Amino acid sequence: MRRALIAGNWKMNLDRAASVALAKAIAEQAKAVEGVDLAVFPPSVYIDAVRETLHGSRVSWGAQNMYPQPNGAFTGEISAAMLVDLGCHYVILGHSERRHILGETDAQINQKILAALAAGLVPVVCVGELLADREAGHTGKVIRQQLEGSLANLSAEQIAASVIAYEPVWAIGTGKVASPEQAEEVHMDLRKILAGRYNATIAEGVRILYGGSVKASNAAELLAQPNVDGALVGGASLKADEFLGIAAGVSRKA
Ligand code: PGA
Repeated sequence: MRRALIAGNWKMNLDRAASVALAKAIAEQAKAVEGVDLAVFPPSVYIDAVRETLHGSRVSWGAQNMYPQPNGAFTGEISAAMLVDLGCHYVILGHSERRHILGETDAQINQKILAALAAGLVPVVCVGELLADREAGHTGKVIRQQLEGSLANLSAEQIAASVIAYEPVWAIGTGKVASPEQAEEVHMDLRKILAGRYNATIAEGVRILYGGSVKASNAAELLAQPNVDGALVGGASLKADEFLGIAAGVSRKA
């Protein structure tokens, strides 16, 4: 049985005071929600402040990115060990904004995933097609390429310790959410790819989140799909009510 995960990606938003206030409100409201894992991903400079607020609550935290090397002359970068030092449990890797705005490749994402796993972090590995890919009928091909490239050289144990997020790029921050059927179709394909690369038991155990314009009013429908195991939420994760409203949709499923 896969336990749902609702993850809030705060992206490059909020200041220190607003991050702490949001974390506090989420921790407080999370007490009323059962049967679902909750995690927030603040801007890296505020992780420490959020950690102090969330410590002892049922909400985990993570980072939005990291660098694969353990240390050294990499100006501006942050290592997996540094994130572990900040109490991070998760790290988002291969987000479409990093793939498309910052030019990250599957090979670079793969290096980051391997380094995250080696440090004991749970990578939340994002894949997703552009609108042009979908319109050209290439969704399946793009998703497979991204998944296989990002997960190259991962052992069965390592994939079992990872989370996948399907985020169609056309649905991110646009208000155009994928239909539950569109999401389920890709999630099922992703699970089939994992079953082919590893085995059915491993594939059945991996959590696959949906991301892209998820909010409290559309979450329950998406999360009711058999292969949708949670949500990676951007905009709606910046309001505690909305974020916890999404989580409440999962508890109804359970
Ligand atoms: P959104 O972002 O919920 O604002 O569409 C999702 C994401 O990028 O993870």
